[in-house]
Amino acid sequence: MKKTLTIVAFIFSISITVHAQHNSAKMKLFIDALMKKMTVDEKIGQLNLPGSGDIVTGQAANSDIGKKIREGKVGGLFNIKTVAKIRAVQKVAMEESRLKIPLLFGMDVIHGYETVFPIPLGLSCTWDMKAIEKSAQIAAMEASADGINWTFSPMVDIARDPRWGRIAEGSGEDAYLGSQIAKAMVKGYQGDGVFKNNTIMACVKHFAFYGAAEAGRDYNTTDMSRVRMYNEYLPPYKAAVDAGAGSVMASFNEVDGIPATGNKFLMTDVLRGQWGFKGFVVTDYTGINEMMDHGMGNLQTVSALALKAGIDMDMVGEGFLTTLKKSLQDGKVTPAQIDAACRRILEAKYKLGLFEDPYRYCDINRAKTDIFTDASRKTAREIAAQSFVLLKNTNNLLPIKKSGTIALIGPLADAKENMPGTWSVAADFTKAVSVLAGLQAAVGTKAKILYAKGANLDADTLFEQRAGMFGKAFTRDSRPAQQIIDEAVAVASQSDVVVAALGESAEMSGESSSRSDIEIPQVQQELLMALLKTGKPVVLVLFTGRPLALKWEHDHTPAILNVWFGGSEAGSAIADVLFGDVNPSGKLSTTFPQNIGQVPIFYNHKNTGRPLENGKWFQKFRSNYLDVSNDPLYPFGYGLSYTNFTYSAVELSRGSIKPSEKLTATVTVTNSGTVTGKEVVQLYIRDMVGSSTRPVKELKGFQKIELKAGESKKISFNISVGDLKFYNYDLKYVAEPGDFKVFIGGNSRDVKEADFKLLWKGNGEW
Ligand code: BGC
Repeated sequence: MKKTLTIVAFIFSISITVHAQHNSAKMKLFIDALMKKMTVDEKIGQLNLPGSGDIVTGQAANSDIGKKIREGKVGGLFNIKTVAKIRAVQKVAMEESRLKIPLLFGMDVIHGYETVFPIPLGLSCTWDMKAIEKSAQIAAMEASADGINWTFSPMVDIARDPRWGRIAEGSGEDAYLGSQIAKAMVKGYQGDGVFKNNTIMACVKHFAFYGAAEAGRDYNTTDMSRVRMYNEYLPPYKAAVDAGAGSVMASFNEVDGIPATGNKFLMTDVLRGQWGFKGFVVTDYTGINEMMDHGMGNLQTVSALALKAGIDMDMVGEGFLTTLKKSLQDGKVTPAQIDAACRRILEAKYKLGLFEDPYRYCDINRAKTDIFTDASRKTAREIAAQSFVLLKNTNNLLPIKKSGTIALIGPLADAKENMPGTWSVAADFTKAVSVLAGLQAAVGTKAKILYAKGANLDADTLFEQRAGMFGKAFTRDSRPAQQIIDEAVAVASQSDVVVAALGESAEMSGESSSRSDIEIPQVQQELLMALLKTGKPVVLVLFTGRPLALKWEHDHTPAILNVWFGGSEAGSAIADVLFGDVNPSGKLSTTFPQNIGQVPIFYNHKNTGRPLENGKWFQKFRSNYLDVSNDPLYPFGYGLSYTNFTYSAVELSRGSIKPSEKLTATVTVTNSGTVTGKEVVQLYIRDMVGSSTRPVKELKGFQKIELKAGESKKISFNISVGDLKFYNYDLKYVAEPGDFKVFIGGNSRDVKEADFKLLWKGNGEW
């Protein structure tokens, strides 16, 4: 039976390959014929991607963009919403342009469309690849029902600096976890790679190293060794490319002194040469023009530089549109370079099926049935609850009972505009569920909920404005801060338990939202202190788009639930977890520092020549600080549950392996508490000796499991030579013989360990 299945699978895979080859031959014929008809101007027009501006339905044809579309000067448009508008614009391209080439319609569909899922940093804390894939699939279904065929997601930038606001948009600090998520997202958006009308093309961004901006300041310079690039930052981009992502977006930052947008090493040597990427590359917003500010020359020079580096499409800046023809005449670019870029964009349109049916993604009926459905909202609620990370829970204060009086206090408590988080451009904030609404719906008449705002988000109105809060109809309480706090304290005093919804607003993270201070704004800290002084048990429900420095809060607050920004259903999901209808299972994908001075702090660091001895926190002439230990507040992989999990010792199936062999590492995990719970069992490895120094731990596998109270399960991981490989000094991907450690546990700190050896012929070991 097994053999038959294998043969069937083999024949099936051959037929898919033959089919794909046949299709690509057909595609080539079609595009060859089309390009023969195209003028140079029309080819350059395909490379142009304007933003939608203020197009309104019915006026598309008369707008400036309408005019350009008619003249064949636009390849695609982005951030235009509603199927009616998109259909109208596509109609101009199809009926009024000379060659009737359909347009791409892009959008930043980053963590959901109208049904908003948790911000990507929160999503990554689910460690649940099926759930993440599902979120992208629903996003694709909704976006495609509203005319969109291309999303600027997934964002896979590794980030280790919580000052950088865009840490909210990615999957955290780890290359392995980031790669699994990149793959899941691409699969969710693109399906099996043959586009249907409910899947859309992914765009991996921001290539590359955008998350390593110096000092965490957005758009800042990046500079790192090649070894670090290959081992620690490139894997998630590569995973997305290997998963078939149709497009890639260049990052704003420079790399080795050359802006990514003009960087041939990245766009051609690595992406196309080493990884075999076949899709197209788009710049980020005015990325080409910004090379003038980087100091790379005038618009004509930087546009030519970008094209020659391997960029195909120019977002917004129109450097290609306005200068490439002249560069061609001046001999600064070649016809072949323009043709190659144009061909890649036409190929994307072909693969999306737009030449067959330009209105494939413009089904007015689907817009009515497929967006913000009850089923999608239910999934969003479940995923949001999984993304929350329980950071502290003294004496099992959580879950709380649906009885008595609950005081809900804080500027994030009744703030539905803040629930979706950064990058939810298509969402209607008024449909989001606030914490207040979520709690009220959950308790009904069983408990009394009292509410007070307690504080503004920040005392500084200018800061609030900069963080974009006013843009979201945020209302400020103009009374003196102390008066607002006193009112909240009076409310809290009448309660049995206080739920304090504090932290950052949605726009305090995300693009252009870097912070040099990563604590909860002071006015809210003062509110928390006042609430704690009432002597009532206080649960801190923490909203944030980045790891915060929470030392004080950790030392003084009995329970902390980190809820990131949970999306449309955030308030309901928060109620599910607070009342114990859902047991929290989220695990951090970034390290939380004790204070800002420790940043960057990440689990997979190097040992140095002067590491601290185990358990010590200060030793003279060792690598440490005088005023704080090297430990994080919460390590990577950390997160509590309403139950407890215990781990047995690690058993290895053998003590050594040859390169062709495998070993199995097994632990028994037991739910030693009283309720069912989910645990993420994590496998780490350390290469003890190498030709280059190796990290003290590297995540190499994980399994999310569910155990009933009292239940035990054996969990095994296979380890083979592929898990031991790294890029050496010569950038060769190798595994080196010698000693390794295996660690298994529920976070990167609390682990059980065992040792094994990788043997190699000729070193005297076998
Ligand atoms: C961001 C990108 C985004 C683009 C289009 C840029 O400012 O960096 O992530 O996709 O705008 O909205």
